[in-house]
Amino acid sequence: MVDIHSHILFSVDDGAKDIEESINLIEQAIELGYTDIVCSSHYYIDLYENENYDKNFNILKSEIEKRGLNIKIHKGNEIRVTDEIFKKLDGMNPLGNSKYILVEITNRTMYQACKNSLKKFIELGYKPVLAHIERYPNIKMSEFLELYNMGVVFQMNVKTTETLSEKISYLLKNGYIKVVATDTHHLEYRNYKLEKYFNILKDLVGEKHFEELTTINPQKILENKEIDFNIEEENNDKQKNDTSNGIFKSIWSKLFSRT
Ligand SMILES: [Fe+2]
Repeated sequence: MVDIHSHILFSVDDGAKDIEESINLIEQAIELGYTDIVCSSHYYIDLYENENYDKNFNILKSEIEKRGLNIKIHKGNEIRVTDEIFKKLDGMNPLGNSKYILVEITNRTMYQACKNSLKKFIELGYKPVLAHIERYPNIKMSEFLELYNMGVVFQMNVKTTETLSEKISYLLKNGYIKVVATDTHHLEYRNYKLEKYFNILKDLVGEKHFEELTTINPQKILENKEIDFNIEEENNDKQKNDTSNGIFKSIWSKLFSRT
């Protein structure tokens, strides 16, 4: 598996504190089945601006090699979208060597402002991946679909599988969510002891879809390859016509209602 969202790089943001914590987290990740991890430390203007990033990344990389750990780390950032971000794009890391960037918005960000920022990134040639889309309950289904149609890649955190909202469940099961990642921070909490959640995910979406979410699409991101945005219409038609299922009826009304 390939994790495109983690804070395992030490002393850069609110993630791992020291190199030992980074290494311990990496050992947990290997046990879980990860082969690649993006160190997507926060890039948040005036708070985290990658001061120690390159230096610490190189130290961690050497330590991994020294210990013979079977994992590859990649550069990245989780970019907080603010008004100032476009003045400091040079300092941020895209995911691997790609044009994909992991972005997060604040809950207070109004949808229109969020959409405009993501649009601006796309016009600049970037491919935004919206981090942990379950964290934005204020975004309506129709608005999520608008972002999707713009080419925004949706990422969900694996722990969410236990508490899926109706909206996120729909987006996951119907293929709108392209990547599941961990957002790992520390050994004590938000670590890689996530087997239970990955098992829930596998049961929810099946083996093939699970592979796409955890390995195939994240790998495509690292290789800057296109992700398939086609949604099987047949699947949607089936749900539209399933009048016996109240859940789908209510979701469908949310899909096309802007009120
Ligand atoms: Fe994060």
